[in-house]
Amino acid sequence: MKLALLSLSLVSVVSALFVGEVPAALKPHADTLNKAPGLTATILVINADATTSEMHLTYGKPNVYKIDGPDGFTVCDGKTIFAYTAKKKSWTEVAVEGNNWQLPLRRAELWPYLSFYDVSALSKVASVKKGTPRKLQGLMLTDYALTMATGADAQVSFLMDDKLGVARGTTSKAGDVSVVAIAKEFAILKEAPAAELLAFKAPVGATKVDPNAIVEVTYKDVQAIFTRSCMPCHNASNMKGGLNLTDYDAVVGARNAVNIANPEKSSIIRSLKGDMYAKMPKNRESLPNEEIEKIAAWMKAGAKND
Ligand code: HEC
Repeated sequence: MKLALLSLSLVSVVSALFVGEVPAALKPHADTLNKAPGLTATILVINADATTSEMHLTYGKPNVYKIDGPDGFTVCDGKTIFAYTAKKKSWTEVAVEGNNWQLPLRRAELWPYLSFYDVSALSKVASVKKGTPRKLQGLMLTDYALTMATGADAQVSFLMDDKLGVARGTTSKAGDVSVVAIAKEFAILKEAPAAELLAFKAPVGATKVDPNAIVEVTYKDVQAIFTRSCMPCHNASNMKGGLNLTDYDAVVGARNAVNIANPEKSSIIRSLKGDMYAKMPKNRESLPNEEIEKIAAWMKAGAKND
């Protein structure tokens, strides 16, 4: 009897893996991108404070890309991920392992285009509510509001170009952070992008640094992780577990949250590792190890407000 129950539960776990399907309304978008050999786009990013910036994407298959933005650029040649930071005039090289090459593609502004590599990216979307077409940046776009399967999540919508059948933009609001991104130029390539578009070339005068040697993590870097991954569950009006992660005073002021002498004992690091505390971010994919280490390194360096 026990055995039968066990095998039944195994079956349900296995089938549950296939339950998440791309909603019908997003299938043309996901399929068109997934079948394409290449993609280029120039994306206008409009921040909540009305400042704007531009990002340039070149995507190829199986996992080669270049993302160029105001802060620097990231190139993946399939084996290595090169990340150049303009502010520090330096770059790092990290080997491709598992899906780590997808991390730079998961930022809110670029999320609609993750389907180019991975159709299952949209399988956590529970439902889609279609709005009416409107003109944005000279383009007729229809708002598709997405409801995520995991409940109280960020508010995300795709701005669909109905003629193309592909999203040419996205809006996203998590906690107090909102962003609108619209692809002013967008092309689905008929062939793989030229290799030289995707080759890493270090800018003149730039230096290479070992990512393991970077101990210099500012609070700004840490807050960016909390803002992206911990909202809307840990802000002043929704303090799950009694924890507010919206600003420095709230973070360092919270009970047990920050431990300078021994970061491994802080509730934040423990929750991220699922050690004694419920694993965070709750019901979402775990943070990559490098980010957990960044937060720990910030604590270790004195948890300064920099
Ligand atoms: C989808 C909502 C959600 C997200 C996102 C989320 N949390 Fe939580 N968090 C909770 C809930 C709910 C609790 C209360 C414990 C529980 O119910 O599991 C909690 C509890 C905690 C606690 C324990 C507080 C205590 O002292 O008991 C910590 C630490 C924590 N979260 C950190 C984080 C961090 C860091 C992130 C982002 C990387 C994050 N959480 C993202 C919902 C969330």
